[in-house]
Amino acid sequence: MTDQIRPQPGIMDIELYVGGASKVEGVGEVVKLSSNENPYGAGEAAREAYGRAVYDLHRYPSTDHAELREAIGAQHGLDPARIICGVGSDEILTLVAQAYVGPGDEVIYTEHGFSMYPIIAKMVGATPVKVAERERVVDVDAILDACTDKTRIVFIANPANPTGTMIGGNAVARLASGLPEQCILVLDGAYAEFVEGYDGGARLVDRQPNVVMTRTFSKIYGLGGLRIGWGYAQQEIIDVLNRVRQPFNLSNTQLAVAEAAMKDQAHVTRTREANSRLRAWLAEALAEHGVPSDTSCANFILARFADADEAQACDAYLKSQGLIVRQTAGYGLAHCLRITIGDESACRQVAHAIGRFKEGAR
Ligand SMILES: Cc1ncc(COP(=O)(O)O)c(C=O)c1O
Repeated sequence: MTDQIRPQPGIMDIELYVGGASKVEGVGEVVKLSSNENPYGAGEAAREAYGRAVYDLHRYPSTDHAELREAIGAQHGLDPARIICGVGSDEILTLVAQAYVGPGDEVIYTEHGFSMYPIIAKMVGATPVKVAERERVVDVDAILDACTDKTRIVFIANPANPTGTMIGGNAVARLASGLPEQCILVLDGAYAEFVEGYDGGARLVDRQPNVVMTRTFSKIYGLGGLRIGWGYAQQEIIDVLNRVRQPFNLSNTQLAVAEAAMKDQAHVTRTREANSRLRAWLAEALAEHGVPSDTSCANFILARFADADEAQACDAYLKSQGLIVRQTAGYGLAHCLRITIGDESACRQVAHAIGRFKEGAR
């Protein structure tokens, strides 16, 4: 290879995204609690739509996703014209950066923020700027203080991953209205559906020209394997994003399954209720074993240990028991482990194993 062939600035600084592990060497059956997946899988309607989609495989998909956007709009009370659909919400996050950010620009994310944010910033040659949180909670004042005339995007997830914490609507609104004029607030709502009655920031998008809300079918809808997400913003922004989006970014199968899933809110409600009940149970069980966590608003708990060594030892013990959770050292939380809320049996198993570990089992 000649040295004239070289990647764009920033690309080689990207540390590859590390997904949740799904295997343990030497252990046959595992319980995967490392990727915040829905333990009950996709709903019945989505599965049936997937079966029917096989008859459409020879057709090109729609380029405008009209039916899926209509279904999302009807469910959430949003204008379908201002919705954009993508290959996971990751694609929407990336499209915003591709369209609005370039070399020399700055992209703000927070101390324990989702690891795709700095990756996306580097992808487009921008400088990721990490801002401190306050006790694992996004700090609006710190973000506003860190803004410069080069800041083009602020990424926050609400609820946040991997902390599970959330900031209130007033704080988000203060952030949106306090940003410099050239800056977009990306409000990542990957876990929004786990908070009953929360609109993910949709109403704020209606009031503020500089906010993009992103949502996903990967979490509560149980469709992480199929890769579908969506975004909502004011029309000017959606018109820009559609220019950089690939016309056939979503397949017939993705579109049909997502539409069926959106119309099956019973599955969403059941999942949210089970998640809330088991999350409270697990947090309490861990606290009784001397493992505290912040109140989580999502489908996981960030369990805190005495130090990084204890967290690592616990992770190894859980693995030996076939329980896979997520290490969070890469998120600046080496003394923690993120545990997805599984089904009842998984929650009991993980609580029991952590109890045994705390009693000295290795
Ligand atoms: C905060 C947050 N945002 C976005 C995503 C990406 O989700 P997807 O691309 O599957 O929609 C995730 C997935 O883990 C996440 O935790």
